[in-house]
Amino acid sequence: MAETMKAFVIGHPIAHSRSPLIHGYWLESHGISGTYERIDIAPDDLERFIRNLPKSGFVGGNVTIPHKEETCRLVDRLDEAARAIGAVNTLWLDGGAICGGNTDAAGFAADLDVHASSWRSAKSALVLGAGGASRAILHALTTAGIADIRLVNRTFARAEELSERFGTGIQAHHWQDTNDLASTSDLVVNTTSVGLNGQGEMPLDVAQLPANATVVDIVYTPLQTPLLAAAAKRGLKTVDGLGMLLHQAVPGFERWFGVRPQVTDRLRGIIVADI
Ligand code: ATR
Repeated sequence: MAETMKAFVIGHPIAHSRSPLIHGYWLESHGISGTYERIDIAPDDLERFIRNLPKSGFVGGNVTIPHKEETCRLVDRLDEAARAIGAVNTLWLDGGAICGGNTDAAGFAADLDVHASSWRSAKSALVLGAGGASRAILHALTTAGIADIRLVNRTFARAEELSERFGTGIQAHHWQDTNDLASTSDLVVNTTSVGLNGQGEMPLDVAQLPANATVVDIVYTPLQTPLLAAAAKRGLKTVDGLGMLLHQAVPGFERWFGVRPQVTDRLRGIIVADI
């Protein structure tokens, strides 16, 4: 009988993670003898958990908040995306070496390729937010060759810091300048939770965007954010954040279990039912 392959997602807290639903669905639909479990790891226990991986019996796993950045410092090898983004979301073993990668940017790109395939030829992208999630989006946009990226953030210094980190092509702008930038931005990506649960006010008025603009919100709780609702009402193309979540899971599953899984409407429906 085939040995059961074990994978995990670590975070703190971890109960909210939908990754077990995604990987559990793929394991079952491919008839793979494997498990994917949530493990709550407190920050003080992260180093021990990671360094122990070669002896743990796990084939690998995912890393989520608050461990993505710290994990960069604890692995033996980083892939190019993890190095550029400064965060690890996927771990695997190669011989005795602990390897860390980041699939968030690739997941974002793969989902847009499905739902808004013209995104790669955007002339100017407007990115809202300069936190951890924003770094993956900036990596995806620069890798796709989008030459003009406008980054706005409530705390301007964080936007400046990221524009320096990622180099040419990304200009930091002030939060209150969002609407001035909108009329010449044909791709908008919101990486913040602003406007949800009474937190702050969305600085972007979708009426300012060109008619061919695509609006992406990488937040997926709720699936239809106020920003996406307003953009759809104006007839703009919209993309929610669930597809990125599903697509970022594909490379990890393939590495651990040896099968490249598909992102299907059925899988999407299972996660939507859980949101
Ligand atoms: P994540 O990993 O989800 O990106 P984060 O690193 O905490 O989380 O970043 C959150 C982002 O949302 C930041 O860009 C933050 O702006 P600041 O850098 O000014 O903190 C932004 N954000 C969160 N709440 C906000 C609000 N009420 N108004 C404006 N921006 C907000």
